[in-house]
Amino acid sequence: MSGNSSTPDPSSPPGADEALSRLARRLGPGARCFFSPGRVNLMGAHLDYNGGSVMPTAIDRGTFLGLGRLSERVLRLSSGVEPGSLEVPLDELPAAPAGRWWDYPLGVLRQFELGALDGGLELVLEGNLAIGAGLSSSASICVGTAFASDALLGTGLGPEGLVERALSAEREFVGVQCGIMDPFAVGHSRPGHLLHLDCADRTIEHLPLDPTRFRIAVADTGVRRELAAGAFNERVEQCAQLTELFRADVPAARFLRDVPFEVYEQRRRSLSPVLARRAAHVFSELARTQQARAALLEGRVDVFGAAMTESQASLGRNYEVSTPELDLLVDAAVAVPGVLGSRLTGAGFGGCTVILLERGAEAELMQRLDRAYKSKFGRLPRIDFYAGDPGPRELPV
Ligand code: GLA
Repeated sequence: MSGNSSTPDPSSPPGADEALSRLARRLGPGARCFFSPGRVNLMGAHLDYNGGSVMPTAIDRGTFLGLGRLSERVLRLSSGVEPGSLEVPLDELPAAPAGRWWDYPLGVLRQFELGALDGGLELVLEGNLAIGAGLSSSASICVGTAFASDALLGTGLGPEGLVERALSAEREFVGVQCGIMDPFAVGHSRPGHLLHLDCADRTIEHLPLDPTRFRIAVADTGVRRELAAGAFNERVEQCAQLTELFRADVPAARFLRDVPFEVYEQRRRSLSPVLARRAAHVFSELARTQQARAALLEGRVDVFGAAMTESQASLGRNYEVSTPELDLLVDAAVAVPGVLGSRLTGAGFGGCTVILLERGAEAELMQRLDRAYKSKFGRLPRIDFYAGDPGPRELPV
């Protein structure tokens, strides 16, 4: 557990000293180092691919990237957290993914003019984000690689263009049909704020969440489901089917978000039981997320937290992406005085819950989660308290 450390200097995230000295040792003189955060999503569960709004924020754990120059004209990719490495001629980068971790940075690097470099390039990744836990390690890597490439080559793309390249690497090169939330959250968040991202028109707002009064905790079930990618794609597909059905009434609908609530109400009895449950989650979550945004703007963080916990109920009952481990962590958390709300974060099927709490409630929260989880599942959950993060940047080596 990382415990109750006070708000760290955002320019130097926890673990930076150790990671940077490993990268500098590995790459030698002239190495440049970068940090790219992970993210946690508090509201708008499974809404990004439905064109709704989401409310994530970047966290102060993520990926450290080291860039070194090579005299030989090759691209070399390696990682301190994943096995295996890739070395290929710089002017003949693979055109297809290999099903390995390096597909993510490679999918980004392919989009930059590496041919303009003298000699070759080495990229080494280090990180302190649990992989597959729903904290967006892949977007952290892709956005970080895009920002590091830009620093090296001076593309002038700006953060929007770099986030776009990261998204395109995941969708077009790696082939994951992910929504836009993760790279936007990694690339555009501000500390002390939640990002409100409208996933239909891609507009963003920064909504204050006072870090001197409130904290964000993440409790990891330790469960990683092999099935998760298939079950995630199935939800995306079911929402596409629903949108198609509603097009009979709303021909211009691109996403479920474009379907008025009244149309859903008129039609819902004609849906199959499974599609009716999926629609019940999406339509209630669309409304809940708007109410949660309004509550936050009015300073009603308690109302915002209650919306998170209602979201969890719908994710379990209607979207069927929760698990007994996630349910128990949410139930135990919301019973703690000072906890305002909790729900699963990321896609679900295992991974983590996010907890919004008042400062001062940390010790009791950890104690109660440990006790409840141990008595039911025989082991302790991992609990971390995260500060916000200003986003991808170069760190002094
Ligand atoms: C995963 C995806 C995101 C989003 C969430 C659910 O984390 O990568 O794009 O769909 O699930 O909110």
